[in-house]
Amino acid sequence: MPGLFTPGFVETIAVDSKEGLVPLAQSRGYNVLFLTGRVSLSALKDSADDIITSGVEGLDKLLHGGVPRGHSVIVEGPPGAGKTVFSFGFLYHGAVDKAEPGIYVTLEESPASIRRNMARFGMSVEELEEKNMLAVLDFSIYHGLPADLGEEERNAEFLARAVARSVRDKAESIKAKRLVVDSLTAILDHYPETRRRAEFLNLLATLRYSGLTSFLLTETPPHDQPNLVQSYLVDGNIMLRLVPSGSQGEMIRTVQIPKMRGLKHDFEIHPFQISDHGIVVFPDDRVYSGAQAVS
Ligand SMILES: Nc1ncnc2c1ncn2[C@@H]1O[C@H](COP(=O)(O)OP(=O)(O)O)[C@@H](O)[C@H]1O
Ligand SMILES: [Mg+2]
Repeated sequence: MPGLFTPGFVETIAVDSKEGLVPLAQSRGYNVLFLTGRVSLSALKDSADDIITSGVEGLDKLLHGGVPRGHSVIVEGPPGAGKTVFSFGFLYHGAVDKAEPGIYVTLEESPASIRRNMARFGMSVEELEEKNMLAVLDFSIYHGLPADLGEEERNAEFLARAVARSVRDKAESIKAKRLVVDSLTAILDHYPETRRRAEFLNLLATLRYSGLTSFLLTETPPHDQPNLVQSYLVDGNIMLRLVPSGSQGEMIRTVQIPKMRGLKHDFEIHPFQISDHGIVVFPDDRVYSGAQAVS
């Protein structure tokens, strides 16, 4: 079957195991996942027919209910904007209130730091880990990579695929429904511009295949640079900003949803705060009015 497994922009070959193509693809060194024949993201199951609550207080009102299940959503903001805390709420609410196990992939903070920080907001990671309701996958300094990864996958060049594989396996074993990748920037920064799109598409395909609803945390790039992550490839985008306010240069935190496929959502910029319980969005308050909101 020459041609079928031509290395293309998506290097994870997806096949239906019933067709017996898996061993063939594997023998050619591919990371076999799913699908039939040529990889087409639109052919992947789209389970966005139900809406899941985000667990972030006030956010679901802006979303007019929640996030469509199976969506991959970029949560973008500058350092300190609250992306990590924001994503804690999403996973914790899923595990505790909705019985939906979650996975937290960390590339920046160590798992110990994640556990400590979540505990500060009254969320016990250990308790959830013991019940298999939450798994923290440690890619922070490469020492936490699963032991069964091959030499090649330990190489930074294969980071995105190693993450994809770990997520897929963990999602299967704990039946995870929610995922946070903290951060996507830390993964894609390993690749030259020319490969980022392919690596990102490959990762997205895995998340969709696994049926995960995902928050992919992304650093806002400096002003004069385009976003390295193609926001148009994902289902949704939530922007967190730190905005100067008042004469003393204080900052306020704002949230805006520029994109959420399949939803009639709010577009405006709203304030939020980080409290001892996590994020609180104020959906009825506005930061700007009229044309300013676009700036
Ligand atoms: N208990 C708290 N109450 C209020 N604000 C807090 C609390 N804990 C942390 N913060 C704020 O949250 C910020 C960090 O948020 P974080 O989610 O880690 O940001 P990001 O992941 O976007 O870099 C800190 O800089 C601090 O301003
Ligand atoms: Mg963070």
